[in-house]
Amino acid sequence: MNYPPGFAIAIDGPVGVGKSTVARKLAQMLQLTYIDSGAMYRAVALYNMRAGVSSADEAAIVASLPHIDIRLTPDGAIYLNDENVSADIRNQALAEYTSTIAVYGDVRAALTTQQKVLAAATPVVMDGRDIGSQVLPHAPVKIYLDAKPEIRAERRYRELISKGQKANRAQVLAETHTRDERDKNREHAPLVQAEGAKYVDASHMNAEETVAHIATLVQNYLKSQL
Ligand code: DC
Repeated sequence: MNYPPGFAIAIDGPVGVGKSTVARKLAQMLQLTYIDSGAMYRAVALYNMRAGVSSADEAAIVASLPHIDIRLTPDGAIYLNDENVSADIRNQALAEYTSTIAVYGDVRAALTTQQKVLAAATPVVMDGRDIGSQVLPHAPVKIYLDAKPEIRAERRYRELISKGQKANRAQVLAETHTRDERDKNREHAPLVQAEGAKYVDASHMNAEETVAHIATLVQNYLKSQL
């Protein structure tokens, strides 16, 4: 498919709303490159967690940045210093750690720069918390994907169980609230509905329905440019 120069789809939303699933499927359907910005924050977290650094030690985490090389491959894998860490970055303890370090301004600045470079190279679907507001403020299609916290927590819980991980429903809901608060109230790049972003409530839509809905918004945009 031919896209106009600078074409990008920015998808933001809270934890557990299904952004990654939706963004990945949308990218496949529309032949765009998918960039999972959350995975990049998780990779920084994994590097530091393995090194035994406390998530509260901002100076140490910022100092680690030059030692971290992150690569995303077209098949959706993520490499940390040439090691495929796609599976290692998906667990609750790491998610908690990531949420803490994602508030640090220097961590955000470093990853934002890398994300802008990736999007400049090719048309992308990028998902995260600050894509429409900070990373790609000029993206022609911006989506704020939302769903009720109870529904997001239930989906997250089932996902963890299906992966054979231990999970507790009440705890997953409590963590969902904590991470929402942290994402929305942090000083640097808080989660907001970006200017020009369309609000999509996925509480009662499955991934396929959500993808179809967003694909229609994209087609409408592209038609409007003809
Ligand atoms: O979407 P996710 O759960 O993989 O994101 C992991 C953490 O990184 C989450 O706490 C929010 C944070 N994050 C962020 O602050 N900005 C982004 N663009 C993407 C993720």
